[in-house]
Amino acid sequence: MTLVFDNLRKQYGNNVAIDAVSTRFEPGLIHGIIGPNGAGKSTLINMTAGSYTVSAGSISLDDRKLSGLKKYQIANAGIARTYQNIRLFDQMTVLENLEVCFYPQEVGQTWKEVIWPPFAKKREARRQDACMELLSFFNLQGYAHAYAGSLPYGRQRMLEIARALVTNPKVLLLDEPAAGLNHHETAELTAKLSELKSQNRVMIIVEHDMDLVMALCDRIVVMHHGKLLFQGTPGEVQASSDVQLAYLGTANDIDDIKAAAQDRRAQLGIRTRQRS
Ligand SMILES: Nc1ncnc2c1ncn2[C@@H]1O[C@H](COP(=O)(O)OP(=O)(O)O)[C@@H](O)[C@H]1O
Ligand SMILES: [Mg+2]
Repeated sequence: MTLVFDNLRKQYGNNVAIDAVSTRFEPGLIHGIIGPNGAGKSTLINMTAGSYTVSAGSISLDDRKLSGLKKYQIANAGIARTYQNIRLFDQMTVLENLEVCFYPQEVGQTWKEVIWPPFAKKREARRQDACMELLSFFNLQGYAHAYAGSLPYGRQRMLEIARALVTNPKVLLLDEPAAGLNHHETAELTAKLSELKSQNRVMIIVEHDMDLVMALCDRIVVMHHGKLLFQGTPGEVQASSDVQLAYLGTANDIDDIKAAAQDRRAQLGIRTRQRS
């Protein structure tokens, strides 16, 4: 399923935060959205997830228009997200944080539970197994019964992604998932996200960490003052003089970024080379 922005616009009063943005996000690819602070990156995520309304234009998943739907309808259509500032259920355990988000896949089972309670047990067990599996994937199984609010910051970031994934979304939106992570945690995150790439899923990552973006993303959209400045592969973005002038700064900066991206590609080896 392809996520499509068509002539998208967002206005807060007189402030035009997003101006005539049209682009497509394909399944099976990791898409990056970059740009300076205030460029409109979070606004794009918020509109896609239905947290903010769209002022004009549209957001669609294949032929289905999402903009205009209620937030829960958008979630049920398969859009899941994380937040720039972590928003977990702090007073619930790690496992409960996933379990409460699991229900969309289970809708339709409820009548069976009413007429025959063992169904409920099965469902409960199934839900717990699925959630524990996801926790293990993110190395969080040891925290399953700890309160989410008590986790170290880096683990909370991972839990937020796990919670977004528990609905098996068609579109996964990550708003600055590496913010506040140390080098080790960022490397772990990069590896996990590359494993989550799937033909059935659109992945969109808003991120400031250029190493991560250049190493992980297949396509990058560059935002500048609410407009789509450039889009292309990491190599094309790095080579674009528009991007260099508007966002990446001096020639020295781009050299640094290229060198860092080169290093990371070498570390990731064949997988990245096949892509280019
Ligand atoms: N809830 C809001 N109300 C009013 N203005 C907002 C709101 N959210 C974002 N903006 C404005 O929209 C613009 C884009 O912000 P944002 O999408 O957060 O940028 P980014 O995530 O790229 O840093 C900024 O000018 C910001 O001040
Ligand atoms: Mg933001």
